[in-house]
Amino acid sequence: MSVPVLAIDGPSGAGKGTVSRAVAKKLGWHYLDSGSIYRSLAIAALKKHADLENEALIVDIAQSIALEFDCNDELVVRLDGEDITSQLALESTGNAASIVAALPEVRRVLLQKQKDFKRFPGLVADGRDMGTVVFPEAENKVFLTASAAERANRRYKQLIEKGIDANLVQIINEIEERDRRDMERQTAPLTMANDALYIDSSDMTLASVIEEVLNLIR
Ligand code: C5P
Repeated sequence: MSVPVLAIDGPSGAGKGTVSRAVAKKLGWHYLDSGSIYRSLAIAALKKHADLENEALIVDIAQSIALEFDCNDELVVRLDGEDITSQLALESTGNAASIVAALPEVRRVLLQKQKDFKRFPGLVADGRDMGTVVFPEAENKVFLTASAAERANRRYKQLIEKGIDANLVQIINEIEERDRRDMERQTAPLTMANDALYIDSSDMTLASVIEEVLNLIR
């Protein structure tokens, strides 16, 4: 019997992380947050003041960082012994991640690390190319999106709730810039797999998105 995989792809801020975690928990499956792998690499590269577009150098760094996932599949990143996990969620980290993620050789080096997450009883994998490149064999695929304005709004509210100063116009610009980079790159661009279920969550509650994804599995 093969390991079941649910691939959830889509642009930044569409709610993939929240939905994937909830579905994985409900099913008792493992969870792969593939963006956090690119984010970790970006942090490592920024710490070394590396040129984010220097492919050979970024590949070198990708091969040298130690990534550890705890038993709940939460990523703990240690860089030369230092725990840098708290920097993963920063907006600047996401933007830098999308620059290193555009390098083809970097994606090739990180491919196996992602495939290794496929273990019984099943895997929910969230990212940009889960259903197209990393797990094309997945029997369940979702493309989760929302309008750029709605995604920016959600992000803005999250930051304000955390007491972090935020600028809505700047967030919209950054989201559009990241969408463009993720969709226009040569290798594994963000695109919907032919056999994916398309969900636009702009006017949906989180609970109804989770329900729709669970229905697909059932
Ligand atoms: O999903 P998240 O915002 O954490 O991803 C950060 C960046 O990592 C994305 O903007 C994208 O460029 C890159 N990424 C990717 N392929 C994936 C997951 C993330 O290229 N499977």
